[in-house]
Amino acid sequence: MAKSRRLFLRIAGSTAVIAAAGAVGFAATRTPDKALAPWSVAGSTYTDARMRALSYAVLAPNPHNQQPWLVTLEGDDSFTLSYDLDQMLPHTDPFNRQIVIGLGCFLELMRMAAASDGYRADVDLFPKGQPEPLLDGRPIARVTLAKDASVAASPLFAEVFNRRSNKEPFDTSRPVAPADLAAITSVAGAGAITGTVSDGETIDHLRDISWRAHLVEVETPRTYMESVEVMRFGKAEINAKPDGIDMGGPFLEALNLAGILTRDTLADMSSQAYAQGIDMYREILWSAMGYVYVGAAENTRLDQIAAGRDWVRMNLKAAQLGLAIHPLSQALQEYPEMD
Ligand SMILES: Cc1cc2nc3c(=O)[nH]c(=O)nc-3n(C[C@H](O)[C@H](O)[C@H](O)COP(=O)(O)O)c2cc1C
Repeated sequence: MAKSRRLFLRIAGSTAVIAAAGAVGFAATRTPDKALAPWSVAGSTYTDARMRALSYAVLAPNPHNQQPWLVTLEGDDSFTLSYDLDQMLPHTDPFNRQIVIGLGCFLELMRMAAASDGYRADVDLFPKGQPEPLLDGRPIARVTLAKDASVAASPLFAEVFNRRSNKEPFDTSRPVAPADLAAITSVAGAGAITGTVSDGETIDHLRDISWRAHLVEVETPRTYMESVEVMRFGKAEINAKPDGIDMGGPFLEALNLAGILTRDTLADMSSQAYAQGIDMYREILWSAMGYVYVGAAENTRLDQIAAGRDWVRMNLKAAQLGLAIHPLSQALQEYPEMD
């Protein structure tokens, strides 16, 4: 049983809820198949090379799972990548930095997918200029795919279906080899500033920073509510709105049906559900067994796209090594309480 579930068991306090979650009929039917369909459709349904590449790109990691991407197909071989301004995160990502990083992850998965089909992706970034200080509707990229015999598939792309963002505590009995951390950062692009942390003292220091940054986010009502508002509770809601943060699976759904874990109980910062969420994250963040980071000398939109490309490559490399990564953005977020 996942540790987060065990933690919530402590507050469930209702045998009926636990029995419902464990009931075979209930548990067997809680998978949100419609929301998960893109993971099985990728690469299989489409003949158009652009659609094939894009069907993988939509599996990209992105902040709060907002999936902001919008694509317009143009002619036979091109498309423009833009974004839905309704999918921004104005409180935790006030300058849209994280959203642009996620769009960089999208472009890199698209490029790798096209390469695995023998296509070169010619990417013209910000063809109408870099949108500053906020995204303003100007597109991210215009892309043309061309058959190219010199293009080779990346071994990292083989991990596309194994890559996820971990949201569970790490196994603290298994140290991560410094060589594995170095292998993860080795796949970042030439201009990236990367680093690894594997010594116990610095790990503790970063655990403490990430934990305190998490507390700032969840104790600041507007930044905390930005997460609560995009939570999707149970199968029906996840299928209807596959973006956002999923609170799915038989156990969480049973807690939701019992009224224990709902948008309202989580929004109430004096509730047990809120306190339990904090306990869950304390365990998660204090279990980090090593860190990798990627940065850029400046913070232009181009740097953000490059960081996203590096990010997803590092995430794929970790998957290849059998390691999980939990992205941590909080300490870098640009709002006064976090400063
Ligand atoms: C720029 C960026 C910032 C993110 N920040 C966080 C974070 O602070 N905490 C977290 O748990 N996940 C974070 N994520 C991971 C997303 O939640 C995750 O990618 C998304 O929910 C999709 O899930 P998947 O990566 O497992 O496919 C971030 C992802 C990106 C690209």
